[in-house]
Amino acid sequence: MISVAVMGYGTVGSGVVEIIEKNKKEVGEKSKDEVGVKYILDLREFPGDPYEDKVIHDFDIIANDPEVDIVVEAMGGIDIAYKYTKGALLKGKSVCTSNKAVVAEHGPELLQIARENNCSYLFEASVGGGIPILRPLNTSFTGEHIEEITGILNGTTNYMLTKMDEEGREYDDVLKEAQDKGYAERNPEADVCGHDACRKIAILTSLGSGKTVYYKDIRTEGITQIDKKDFEYAKKLNGSIKLLGLSRDVDGKILAIVAPFIVSDKSPLYAVRGVFNAIMVKGNMVGNTMFYGQGAGKLATASAIVADIVDCALNKGKTIDCTWKSEKAQMVDDREKVFEYFVRVKKDAFAELSECLGIREKITIDTADDEIGFVSAAVSEDKFFEAKDKYSNSMINYIRILDTEN
Ligand code: HSE
Repeated sequence: MISVAVMGYGTVGSGVVEIIEKNKKEVGEKSKDEVGVKYILDLREFPGDPYEDKVIHDFDIIANDPEVDIVVEAMGGIDIAYKYTKGALLKGKSVCTSNKAVVAEHGPELLQIARENNCSYLFEASVGGGIPILRPLNTSFTGEHIEEITGILNGTTNYMLTKMDEEGREYDDVLKEAQDKGYAERNPEADVCGHDACRKIAILTSLGSGKTVYYKDIRTEGITQIDKKDFEYAKKLNGSIKLLGLSRDVDGKILAIVAPFIVSDKSPLYAVRGVFNAIMVKGNMVGNTMFYGQGAGKLATASAIVADIVDCALNKGKTIDCTWKSEKAQMVDDREKVFEYFVRVKKDAFAELSECLGIREKITIDTADDEIGFVSAAVSEDKFFEAKDKYSNSMINYIRILDTEN
């Protein structure tokens, strides 16, 4: 019998319990042993819940029970979740989690503790919800040098941008709709400012490169400045606007960024609409691969955790190791980050700014008569931001352009 303790009985935690109980036969067969939930740790009581008798409030009961083999951390937050995860691993109990914040902040340390205690720290559900992406990165691309990872990693913002694109609506309007539908939080900052996507691309890149890419080292820009005119310009460029997490290997250094990009309609990422996520992984031998599906949601996320539980059950007493090591990756600096930019500028500054950045293409739209849009030459981030500062009163907005190959 494999005993599981679930910490956090919210959306994801209750989904894990539901899957283990409803799919008991499948989970048991695949784990080669019966799997059952022994404890549910939460601050709250759940009167009338079918698993009410399993609810406890003291983590030490889990830590000190030798029968508990696997702990699910679905608590959210960082400090307590980290403390309990570490406590469980130090007792040789494997931990499976969807908590990207803890993985991005403490991943290398927790992986090392797992190695030293013959157990595993697995976090498939932390990126892309139910999309299998971390396991393939860890096990299927072992013959590859990962050159690039490009992802639509946040369902909430992809929903909002899709609505703006397809229905010509403004940011505030689609944000309110996303909140009413339960996609966006009342405080939507983590999604709309790109922090959620940043942690996900940090985790993906750490697995892809085998070195630690710390999320705080990634330039992160959100979608709050995007308005409906930007989509009119993007359409003239045969594209749309997507919030991307992107990382590239540039001569052994990592270029990583989270920002809105204009994505051409030739890119497979263009077709990813609504709350869906997609992650393109480019290996030096296999070329481009793409992983697509629902990046959030109770059962999709819980299903990824249950798959991790099965893996831990099959590898009881051993560590399922992972390519991510604690050595820090070297990051490229702003001089080496080169993109073409779509720029909107007031008419009177167009000549000077386009001269300064170089110009590939001028774009005008019918609804804007006091501004001009243009695509710049490929310029480095330091050069671009120098110009942005100099023309801060004249530059209305800017969006990087994703190379058409992706
Ligand atoms: N807020 C996230 C999203 C949830 O919208 O994708 C999954 O991490």
